[in-house]
Amino acid sequence: MAIERTLSIVKPSSVSDNHIGAIVAKFEAAGLRVVAAKMLKLTPEQAGNFYDVHRARPFFQELVDFMTSGPIFVQVLEGENAIAKNREVMGATDPAKATAGTIRAEFGKNISENAVHGSDAPDTAHTEIGFFFATSELCAR
Ligand code: CDP
Ligand code: MG
Repeated sequence: MAIERTLSIVKPSSVSDNHIGAIVAKFEAAGLRVVAAKMLKLTPEQAGNFYDVHRARPFFQELVDFMTSGPIFVQVLEGENAIAKNREVMGATDPAKATAGTIRAEFGKNISENAVHGSDAPDTAHTEIGFFFATSELCAR
């Protein structure tokens, strides 16, 4: 199986609820390794660019407002099939539909404030990692 890297974001609601550690613990328990991490607050322009693919969707402004409402915790996760594994540990976009035990089922509040972001494919993982991290910040483990 391929070793992949993927981008994970602990969204503002989970940071303010003090759930960073509980969320990282779920990734680690699933065999994913943190190879880069930092905390920052997005500007509206940065959040809009990050979610550019959703610019025409009705929820876009609400999403930008939410993602800029407080600091986020951004990580690069590495492991076998890391992109799909991260999405599995996250659970479905709508916390109400997420499988029990997933991060979104446990920590998501609603379809907007759904605790975490995770890249959905190799090309988006590559772009999203580059959005937040320089290659020199990714630590081999
Ligand atoms: O995050 P994920 O890839 O599971 O879902 P998405 O369809 O790529 O949507 C990106 C983000 O937009 C979600 O994680 C939600 O925060 C937000 N969203 C929303 O507020 N309302 C929706 N109906 C769909 C998504
Ligand atoms: Mg997505």
